[in-house]
Amino acid sequence: MSEAISQNEAPRETAVETRKLVRRFGATVAVDRLDLTVYKGDLFGFIGSNGAGKTTTLRILATFLRPTAGEAFVLGLDVVKEADRVRHVIGYMPDFFGVYKDMEVTEYLDFFGACYKIPAARREKTVAAVLELVGLADKRGALIGALSRGMQQRLGLARVLIHDPQVLLLDEPASGLDPRARIEVAAILQELQRMGKTIIISSHILSELEKLCNRVAIIEKGRLIYSGPAQGAAKEFQSAPVVWAAVRGDPDHALKLLKECSFVKEVRLIDGRLRVTLDGEEGDPSQVAEALVRGGAKLAELRPEEKGLQEVFLRVTRGETQ
Ligand SMILES: Nc1ncnc2c1ncn2[C@@H]1O[C@H](COP(=O)(O)OP(=O)(O)OP(=O)(O)O)[C@@H](O)[C@H]1O
Ligand SMILES: [Mg+2]
Repeated sequence: MSEAISQNEAPRETAVETRKLVRRFGATVAVDRLDLTVYKGDLFGFIGSNGAGKTTTLRILATFLRPTAGEAFVLGLDVVKEADRVRHVIGYMPDFFGVYKDMEVTEYLDFFGACYKIPAARREKTVAAVLELVGLADKRGALIGALSRGMQQRLGLARVLIHDPQVLLLDEPASGLDPRARIEVAAILQELQRMGKTIIISSHILSELEKLCNRVAIIEKGRLIYSGPAQGAAKEFQSAPVVWAAVRGDPDHALKLLKECSFVKEVRLIDGRLRVTLDGEEGDPSQVAEALVRGGAKLAELRPEEKGLQEVFLRVTRGETQ
């Protein structure tokens, strides 16, 4: 599904792009001709149910896995032909990463800093800076095994930040965290976005990404089914418009009135208010107001139902999980 750029939106530089990307594992097509575009500065939600192909795509972008066909670029660099250069501009946090339980926090980060050939003199400063950023400054001397799950996850984030990459590829960084720890991770990601990083974060927990991310892509069975702003996603998949109406006085009378209208597909009384599903073709919320007023009901409230991305996603992927 392609995405139109609205006319008042300034053209933005692309940070990550896949073109007809394919990855097969035997007979399984994990990624199926995927076209993704992530712009610089995006906090980009990569959404899909189990087995949708999120991890496979991120591993290709992180140069750990070769595509079967198609191309992928990070900051204009080809992930196959320029893999070494790509590794320097990305920070990849896998869905499961080994933790070195017997290591101290600072030792662990220093080790990764050395892997990236950061000179010893600079490493100490860099380690302190990333620990500050993820809120673990007071845990610098702690053993990793003694950190909570949320803290270990934040340490994982610190690790991918050690070489100051421009693009972060985070595979379900909030999985297994309690609500408070999730909020902490979200706050760190927002801070990183403010610092100008481009962040791709995968998840199947939509309600969080909807608030956190400025753009999302939804994939299913390796295929892109939506890419664009979260708002747009809701609209894209909205099958029939739904409005909520409230009247002063007898709601049953209003219910009867609406049931007789040709443009109403379904109407239900829920907690004293009317949930009206309009006919997708000719339905218009103003018709609801008109019908009620004409029938003698006193309209107190009329508003369209907001459809969260979660609901959208459930509908578009129903029964499609591999
Ligand atoms: N190394 C592999 N060998 C064989 N099949 C694989 C391999 N890695 C992934 N797959 C298959 O590719 C498909 C996509 O898997 P992938 O891990 O990319 O999905 P995902 O969206 O990350 O799912 P989850 O939400 O469960 O993490 C699945 O059908 C999976 O079984
Ligand atoms: Mg995965």
